[in-house]
Amino acid sequence: MGPLQIKELLQQTPDAQSVTLKGWVRTKRESKNAIFIALNDGSTIHNIQAVAAPGQFSAELLLTVTTGSCLKITGQLVASQGSGQAVEVKIDDIFVYGTADVDSYPLQPKRHSLEFLREIAHLRPRTNTFSAILRIRHALAFAVHKYYNDRGFFYLHTPIITASDAEGAGEMFRVTTLDLEKLPRTDEGDINFKEDFFGREANLTVSGQLEGELGAMALSKIYTFGPTFRAENSNTTRHLAEFWMIEPEMAFFELEDNMDLAEDFIKTVISYALENCKDDLAFLENRLAEEDKNKPQNERSIPLLEKLNFVVENAFERLTYTEAIDILLKSKPHKEKKFQYPVGWGIDLSSEHERYLVEKHFKKPVILTNYPREIKSFYMKLDDDGKTVRAMDVLFPGIGEIIGGSQREDNYEKLLERVHEVGIDPETIWWYLETRKFGTAPHSGFGLGFERLVLFVTGMANIRDVIPFPRYPKSAEF
Ligand code: 4AD
Ligand code: MG
Repeated sequence: MGPLQIKELLQQTPDAQSVTLKGWVRTKRESKNAIFIALNDGSTIHNIQAVAAPGQFSAELLLTVTTGSCLKITGQLVASQGSGQAVEVKIDDIFVYGTADVDSYPLQPKRHSLEFLREIAHLRPRTNTFSAILRIRHALAFAVHKYYNDRGFFYLHTPIITASDAEGAGEMFRVTTLDLEKLPRTDEGDINFKEDFFGREANLTVSGQLEGELGAMALSKIYTFGPTFRAENSNTTRHLAEFWMIEPEMAFFELEDNMDLAEDFIKTVISYALENCKDDLAFLENRLAEEDKNKPQNERSIPLLEKLNFVVENAFERLTYTEAIDILLKSKPHKEKKFQYPVGWGIDLSSEHERYLVEKHFKKPVILTNYPREIKSFYMKLDDDGKTVRAMDVLFPGIGEIIGGSQREDNYEKLLERVHEVGIDPETIWWYLETRKFGTAPHSGFGLGFERLVLFVTGMANIRDVIPFPRYPKSAEF
């Protein structure tokens, strides 16, 4: 089906067999003795070199073969004369599918800034960096499904449109078909959502967890993997308004089991990328090393593959929130008043605190548990002391929080109390509360931010560069 991909052609033994190449021109180089065209179809980071003799094609045709143009080349696969590639194609014929005007095609064979590439997100997958990222992103997504499928989890499709706010964060995108120019009003003058499409207020989901829990209470082990939406106005390198989240939810798992699963899951999918994305990771590692050359010695990063192998091979540090606060209180930056935000039991850790623990103190991934109830979601199981909940956050170097999760409150009365405490109307989640009335069971789960994982694995610095078409405040162009 279809032509062979360049990735496959590059692996063939050259025997002057006839081959057809289809792809986009990366570079064209003319020398006295030959014309070299480097073609790429996105199947691999490597280009295939196609070679023609001078005078074999008209000057008119060759003028249309420029960076970005799309070609069909037929020819013979032969051992390469030059160094740098094992095989090349001796061209018999060139057909130009589409030209790319040299003066207006924005991607020229030189290094473009990532900021500039964000402005041309429709073309950036044609660069080495982005095609490498997109292939790694694909491999990680595949590894996620494989991981759960191999372990008896069922992929549950939780709704994108919802009437509940799972995280109680109140930062949701509204979904409506009401005419914004002529909003229907109740007698009291409020907007009458009874006339809206669903007969009630609806939003894009911030998490599939609540519905995921319903699935776990029947299928035992489920996971979701879908887009989630948060209308928080965070212009950071770690936040998107639309991001993909993987949320496993398991009946009969307690906090310990949840931590074991989270650690094994992350290590397994990173290992999959190490095994299956060697060329792309090597390319990105080199890219980072090039960037680092301009930095002072102490600001240079650990080589990418070394960093990934380190995470796979070493146990994550596990400690409680209370222990973490003690470490922070005794830390140099705290004593020297170098932290921007104050430290003390009860605070919501800010990223400077998380990064101190991970990057300076433990120098490895950390799982923090048992956070104060006040700073965590209503559904987390209360510890016996009544002060903390069975929460767990996995913190990664350079990223901060990559996973957030918990054991869930499975006691109906205690859960209802928390619902009231945080001001959720129990009527809006009656179905969620009923699982605690009918055959409740201990259960746990977590959410992994997929882009934060891709960010870590690719070594990129900005989350906007690891999703094809990023959504963030004032940006939804493509
Ligand atoms: O910690 P969060 O908010 O947890 C939940 O949504 C739970 N319902 C998960 C669960 O227990 N099933 O989000 C989970 C993860 C974070 O650790 C982070 O990796 C990622 O989602 N995340 C974001 N990623 C990109 N952009 C954002 N705005 C993100 N907000 C959270
Ligand atoms: Mg969180």
